[in-house]
Amino acid sequence: MTDYRKRILFDAETIARRVKELAGEIAAKHPEGDLVLIGILKGSFVFMADLVRALDSPCQIDFVRISSYKSATVSSGELEITMDISVPIGGKHVIVVDDIVDTGLTLSQYVKRLEKESPASVEIAALIDKTGRREQYVKLDYRGFSIEKGFVVGYGLDWDERFRYLPAVYALEDTE
Ligand code: IMP
Repeated sequence: MTDYRKRILFDAETIARRVKELAGEIAAKHPEGDLVLIGILKGSFVFMADLVRALDSPCQIDFVRISSYKSATVSSGELEITMDISVPIGGKHVIVVDDIVDTGLTLSQYVKRLEKESPASVEIAALIDKTGRREQYVKLDYRGFSIEKGFVVGYGLDWDERFRYLPAVYALEDTE
């Protein structure tokens, strides 16, 4: 198996501290609770699990799986949802939970789609805001960390389905 060089960016303690702070920001903004959190699979699964436990207030949880696509498809306004949510979101305060925002194409399209279902509000929580390649503006209401560029793995994030299990976030070297 190829050996990739990984450089630690955010260790497990740093992530845990930041996730608790994000949960605090969410709780302060939504004291009434009653949120629906929608995780984008697969990358959000670890962040989602830690975030809802740090939130420590009643909420509903669902997941969506969106297939990767080429920009040309997105410009036509289409997203391929390969596994959709089943929790009704009409009238609810929704937070979309994602691992990393890169071009912003996935989230900007997905939020538009959710808004058609008349939620009370839609916000976004992303563990990592990768700013350098943004093509579509995405309003990040809750942002864990910012990086400018590079490919990162661990804490749910993968490279070719590898490294999701790692408890920290690493920059993968020799890939860019
Ligand atoms: P975009 O914002 O539509 O370009 O896509 C974001 C998605 O691309 C994320 O949810 C990840 O699945 C994937 N992605 C982008 N950058 C990285 C990275 O550095 N590591 C792992 N996955 C990434």
